[in-house]
Amino acid sequence: MSGKILIETENLTKIYNGRTAVDRLSFHLLEGEVFGFLGPNGAGKTTTLLMLLGLTEPTEGWVKVLGLDPSRNPIAVKSQIGHLQENMGFYGDLNAWQMLDFIAELNGIPDDSARERCEKALRAVGLLDEAEKSIRTFSRGMRQRLGIAELLIKECRIAFMDEPTLGLDPDATNRMMDLVEQLCQETNMTVLLSSHLLHLVQRICHRVGIMIRGKMVACGPVEQLAREKLGIDNDAYTLEQVYMKYFEEGRP
Ligand SMILES: Nc1ncnc2c1ncn2[C@@H]1O[C@H](COP(=O)(O)OP(=O)(O)OP(=O)(O)O)[C@@H](O)[C@H]1O
Ligand SMILES: [Mg+2]
Repeated sequence: MSGKILIETENLTKIYNGRTAVDRLSFHLLEGEVFGFLGPNGAGKTTTLLMLLGLTEPTEGWVKVLGLDPSRNPIAVKSQIGHLQENMGFYGDLNAWQMLDFIAELNGIPDDSARERCEKALRAVGLLDEAEKSIRTFSRGMRQRLGIAELLIKECRIAFMDEPTLGLDPDATNRMMDLVEQLCQETNMTVLLSSHLLHLVQRICHRVGIMIRGKMVACGPVEQLAREKLGIDNDAYTLEQVYMKYFEEGRP
């Protein structure tokens, strides 16, 4: 990790019809880090991601992504951020090669380097042998890996992953998380990972942020939060214990 700040927010707030969804959020993301973005349903995680992407405007506060204001420069910001969601909407009639070729074309990658880049991405996500098959026949796990290949084609510096393992079986989930970890190490990509699978978040994330009712109540390496919140100084803690402690305190 370089220590370089790629995303920064201050007092970022979103109010929908008088209800505060995100409440004065101040945090940053460093280049090359995997940041676990946690919180119960309705805590404001997706709303935060939408503000970072410039897809919804903050009511108050500000956010900078690579030095830019996403609501003023949505295209520039979106070209640098990959967004991996559950159920990626792919073009079912295409095969994986065709789909990545298409992504390369949309992103202005010249034909002579596109093929090589597609091959590299397919290999990285373990889909090279299946790349001639129609995406329609792909399992959920394969689709999610194809989504990661798309991020690689675009050479995104930042990736938002909102529940990327939803509906995946335990083995596919593990492999997906290993892949994310490996790609961050190899490409220095920064990942904001929102997931409820706390044991996996604990395994791959450098830091986590816990949102409860719109507020980020904790932010830091799991080890540090365990020390501060549970008073545990060795490694006999789980992120789940830390999370539940904050969650119980944050109950209305
Ligand atoms: N477009 C919208 N209009 C009105 N209220 C909204 C809108 N989007 C989200 N909200 C509300 O904002 C709050 C935060 O929702 P958000 O989707 O950001 O939560 P989340 O942390 O992503 O939850 P989950 O884990 O269920 O995905 C919720 O109370 C939700 O009902
Ligand atoms: Mg959400």
